[in-house]
Amino acid sequence: MSQSAVATSQAAPEICFDGVDLSLGGLEILKGIDLEIRRGEFICVIGPSGCGKTTMLRLIAGFHRATAGAVMHEGRAVNGPSPDIAIVFQDYGKALLPWRNAADNVALALEAMRVPKSQRADMITGFLGKVGLADHAQKFPSQMSGGMQQRLQIARALAQNPSVLLMDEPFGALDAMTRQTLQDECLNLVENMGTTVFFVTHDIEEAIYLGDRVVTLSPNPGRIADIHTVNLPRPRNQLTTREDPEFLRLRRVLFDFIQGH
Ligand SMILES: Nc1ncnc2c1ncn2[C@@H]1O[C@H](COP(=O)(O)OP(=O)(O)O)[C@@H](O)[C@H]1O
Ligand SMILES: [Mg+2]
Repeated sequence: MSQSAVATSQAAPEICFDGVDLSLGGLEILKGIDLEIRRGEFICVIGPSGCGKTTMLRLIAGFHRATAGAVMHEGRAVNGPSPDIAIVFQDYGKALLPWRNAADNVALALEAMRVPKSQRADMITGFLGKVGLADHAQKFPSQMSGGMQQRLQIARALAQNPSVLLMDEPFGALDAMTRQTLQDECLNLVENMGTTVFFVTHDIEEAIYLGDRVVTLSPNPGRIADIHTVNLPRPRNQLTTREDPEFLRLRRVLFDFIQGH
């Protein structure tokens, strides 16, 4: 790569929506989406059901092609799925392979990346350790709680060593305590790995708690209504962050937005 190409790719945002429209089956789903996500940023997207949150995520994943405008990853147009962009789905039950134990589910990502067999065992142990599953490598998904299965899905996504992690309501099916634990684990992991995160949720407080910015989408067709910067210090704390006046202010603003739809 030439010096100028290096400079360009470093200057480019990690992800860029540039005037993106998307129609599916003749229906306008997203309209005029402009958004730049910088490297290492944690972006949360909220909006009423059906407004196009998942569709935005699928555009980044390369599952849809913009009808107008472009979605760029590190300065290049996204034109299909790439191992550099990993996805964590809400439905861990469908995302994990039930006939593979935890270690072999993580191995799946390494196999796809053609990591030599001799290196896999250590990497699997490392990634399971990162999500607190070191002692559960031999367990099958059916033998794990929902929280453990979601940790496993995160371990598998991180094993891809992605620069971007797409998360679609990943903690939506978990109980409140498990959800908070996983929020904190997730923040730690992506901060340590420098991963850029695009996180879809319908939980206002979750969006503020996790995000550097919160994007609100309004429906029919999906448009960006607003982008809110979250001026809350890191590391976030489940008690003090949620009591911070800035947290409460944003909660009110976002609540009013959701109520308005
Ligand atoms: N493949 C598709 N074909 C036609 N319409 C779709 C398709 N996928 C999603 N939609 C529609 O796009 C809109 C946005 O969907 P989605 O992005 O899943 O919303 P959200 O995740 O915000 O709940 C919905 O009205 C949905 O019915
Ligand atoms: Mg969705």
